[in-house]
Amino acid sequence: MTQDELKQAVAAAAVERLPLDAIIGVGTGSTANCFIDALAERKRSVRATVASSQASAERLRKHGIMVLELNEVESLPVYVDGADEIDARMAMIKGGGGALTREKIVAAVARQFVCIADQSKLVDKLGRFPLPIEVIPMARAHVEREMRALGGEPRLRTGFTTDNGNQILDVHGLDIADAVALETRIDHIAGVVSNGLFARRGADVLILGTASGVRIIERSS
Ligand code: A5P
Repeated sequence: MTQDELKQAVAAAAVERLPLDAIIGVGTGSTANCFIDALAERKRSVRATVASSQASAERLRKHGIMVLELNEVESLPVYVDGADEIDARMAMIKGGGGALTREKIVAAVARQFVCIADQSKLVDKLGRFPLPIEVIPMARAHVEREMRALGGEPRLRTGFTTDNGNQILDVHGLDIADAVALETRIDHIAGVVSNGLFARRGADVLILGTASGVRIIERSS
């Protein structure tokens, strides 16, 4: 199977597992787009959605699927999204598409985080993928210095503004030995809106597309 076929397979498997008539949190990126397209085939069984980006909201609406603001919703049973990397502890790097802050917010509200990914995303150790950090523009140079002090090499994502009007630094070369500690450390730098480590609140379920089929991996508590 091609990588695109693997993404479609995990998206279809995620739609199969959705609770009926629920409000569903929807992520961002090429795998999440496959999920949105698969959801469109079953849209009568979904009450509404909450999107983690303007791009996903637009795609959902084009399919005729209702999109609510997160503030209109008291709880979400499930949030479905891709990842740039995921490890065996279900910690992830996200934000390759720049939507990390809204993804983290919607994921925080959801009772269950379902990560959909092809096998290339499963890694032994996080960090080969540069860590995205959303920064308030006036704090960019300060955050760059702080990230260099932590051993990283930050690069400004040029020509890109987040849905929140901020900038993204992609930080290369970090040694992510303790993802939970690093996520917390970076969050405390003044000017950081959020960072792409999803370790404190990782995935609960991983739907992984492999050459031998779709695997469902539940987080061990
Ligand atoms: C979007 O900001 C990201 O967090 C995506 O979820 C992540 O980059 C995975 O994207 P793909 O499914 O396109 O690889």
